[in-house]
Amino acid sequence: MRLATLNALIIAVCLITPSWLSKPVAAADGPEIERRIDSLLKQMTLEEKIGQLQQLDGEWTGLARPEQFDLARRGLLGSTLNVRGARRVNELQRAAVEQSRLKIPILFGFDVIHGYRTIFPIPLGQASSWDPPSWEKAASIAALETSAAGVRWTFAPMLDIARDARWGRIAEGGGEDPYLVSAFAAAQVRGYQGNSYASPGKILGCAKHWVAYGAAEAGRDYNTTEVSERTLREIYFPPFKAAVDAGVGTFMSSFNDLNGIPATANQFTLDQVLRKEWKFDGFVVSDYDGIRELIVHGIASDEAGAAQAALSAGVDMEMVSRTYNNTLADLLKRNKISVAAIDEAVRRILRVKLRLGLFERPYADESAEQSLTLRTDSRAAARQIASRSMVLLKNEGGLLPLSKNLDAIAVIGPLADNKRDILGSWSGDGRAEDAVTPLDAIKSRIAGSTRISYAGGCDIIDSNKSNFEEATRAARESKVAIVVVGESAEMSGEAASRTSLDLPGKQLELIKAVVSTGTPTVVVLMNGRPISIGWVAENAPAILETWFAGTEGGNAIADVLFGDVNPGGKLPVTFPRSVGQVPIYYNHKNTGRPADPKDKYTSKYIDGPSTPLYPFGWGLSYTKFQLSGLTLSSRKIPSNGSLDVSVDVRNVGDRAGDEVVQLYVHDVAAAITRPVKQLSGFQRVTLQPGEQRRLTFSLGPSQLGFYNRDMRFEVEPGVFKVMIGPNSLEGLEASFEVDKE
Ligand code: NOJ
Repeated sequence: MRLATLNALIIAVCLITPSWLSKPVAAADGPEIERRIDSLLKQMTLEEKIGQLQQLDGEWTGLARPEQFDLARRGLLGSTLNVRGARRVNELQRAAVEQSRLKIPILFGFDVIHGYRTIFPIPLGQASSWDPPSWEKAASIAALETSAAGVRWTFAPMLDIARDARWGRIAEGGGEDPYLVSAFAAAQVRGYQGNSYASPGKILGCAKHWVAYGAAEAGRDYNTTEVSERTLREIYFPPFKAAVDAGVGTFMSSFNDLNGIPATANQFTLDQVLRKEWKFDGFVVSDYDGIRELIVHGIASDEAGAAQAALSAGVDMEMVSRTYNNTLADLLKRNKISVAAIDEAVRRILRVKLRLGLFERPYADESAEQSLTLRTDSRAAARQIASRSMVLLKNEGGLLPLSKNLDAIAVIGPLADNKRDILGSWSGDGRAEDAVTPLDAIKSRIAGSTRISYAGGCDIIDSNKSNFEEATRAARESKVAIVVVGESAEMSGEAASRTSLDLPGKQLELIKAVVSTGTPTVVVLMNGRPISIGWVAENAPAILETWFAGTEGGNAIADVLFGDVNPGGKLPVTFPRSVGQVPIYYNHKNTGRPADPKDKYTSKYIDGPSTPLYPFGWGLSYTKFQLSGLTLSSRKIPSNGSLDVSVDVRNVGDRAGDEVVQLYVHDVAAAITRPVKQLSGFQRVTLQPGEQRRLTFSLGPSQLGFYNRDMRFEVEPGVFKVMIGPNSLEGLEASFEVDKE
């Protein structure tokens, strides 16, 4: 499906929208909101104020807990997480809005990470589409379903840059590059929140995890991080800044110790950068139990110390632990914190609730929930977005796409017919029963005369090989074998770090056994992180990276395998050859001794290459593209100036396809060493056979500058190299100069 169809779908969504959803919410404006907050603050008791700062967890099934009704009636519950479903939400909301003294509504939150019920590819998969309209569309459908379920706040987007594939949460973000993840951030915030998160069908976003959580030492989740201020500002901050610029309403502080001060008590990141420099005026929620954990980190000896540290750093709402509730009143009595500090946190939370129109529209429409959930057009969009997210890693001899008229196809592997894992981790309210597996989709796709033999072969994790025989027989009797392997959904996501990046269990052996039958073999990967697949890359003729592609994943995979969709995704992360290479990322520094195979004393390994298996930005197509005619609008610019970089891209193959043209920049000599290249622009274009298009990218101070020795952002005079290509390795080059003024 092409963009025109996507647009038609968007229009369709608008047309079928029920009337209550299209009614504008009379949310108050800025000064009016502040006046209402002043008036509420005057009426609130200290207990009620502290109650607004508390977020409590519902049952995992979506039910509210009995205690929460009592707190709601007493006006002591600011927010919940996981309580969902229009009826359940309304029930608890009624206690707050109809029975409490001040009738302040509860804000219901939930982790809608890549879809609510209609599940889209995991974020790392979506990032592979390099396609902002797809990102925005996925988030906007998620918002529609989420708000229909009474939940007005998602804990997304997750904007943690991740350079270490051992870290399981790499699956939840957009990969390793600050420019790409910033674009991803802005598009997702637009999708969730629209122009105003008070709009019908829109929800409040939450930029998380603030900050540098993805830099966990050794890739072990929750582990300590040590990141210089410059690297914070250049690598880890930009996606969050992009979210602020896009108007994100809330932030979540992260679990990690950051340079000795846990992010949940870090005045520099929470107050200095976020509030003072970036002027963020929404609220910050802690992560789950994160404030109490300040005691475990060892920067507080008790709950009071933890509460004091978090509140004074700028954490407004406490998720699950109750240190604010248990200790703020006493801290106030002892003059350890001020009423002003509590009032400020309450103000920020009420401001967001008022902006959200929650006071005017506290309830969900129970009669509309079902019709807005898992709609046919939402599924169609999920299928299209999933197919745009797939990355063709290898396609020797043009094995793909497959003909739909083959005599026999073997579909093999533990993930070939697995409805649960294809949804990926953090799959909201997604249900296995809704999912389409590759086997389902292949069966429905091919001609009636084609015989399909299915054999699981082995499990994802265990070491039982007793079904290998069935799998190799199926392969031998077929014209092609499609082997679907990878990780289980639970092997990535939170608390799912790995010490190995290999295919788990006996899956590599299964692939080897199938390949050794001599039947042409297509390896279809499902995984939440880059995995080390050296043998597969060398020996299997075709490899398709599908990540965890979501509810419509099987259909999207079949679309690509049989050529209904020409794959155009590109890797948003580097694929290492082995776990020993991580952290590995394309935008590294050069060192004084870059790897030179002829010189032992250079930066490399003695037992393997230092180059990646697949570089950042890598991805093939069923057609071929050629880049030519690179021109710069200017060879010399002032330091506050900009220039245009233009290039022709031509489809020189014989089928329509998408290319993602990538622009990289390198500052050749500067006061601070600069990365060997930095992504500074990209465009995904669809071209018919023979079609050529001229693309223009603008380069200006935001892409050319860096934080100098005084930690001020500046563009230094000197020579810059420009590289433009289909990935981070290949392409055309030119250079220009930033002039001394
Ligand atoms: C912990 C996770 O770190 C965070 O991402 C999530 O939003 C919260 N739990 C709530 O589920």
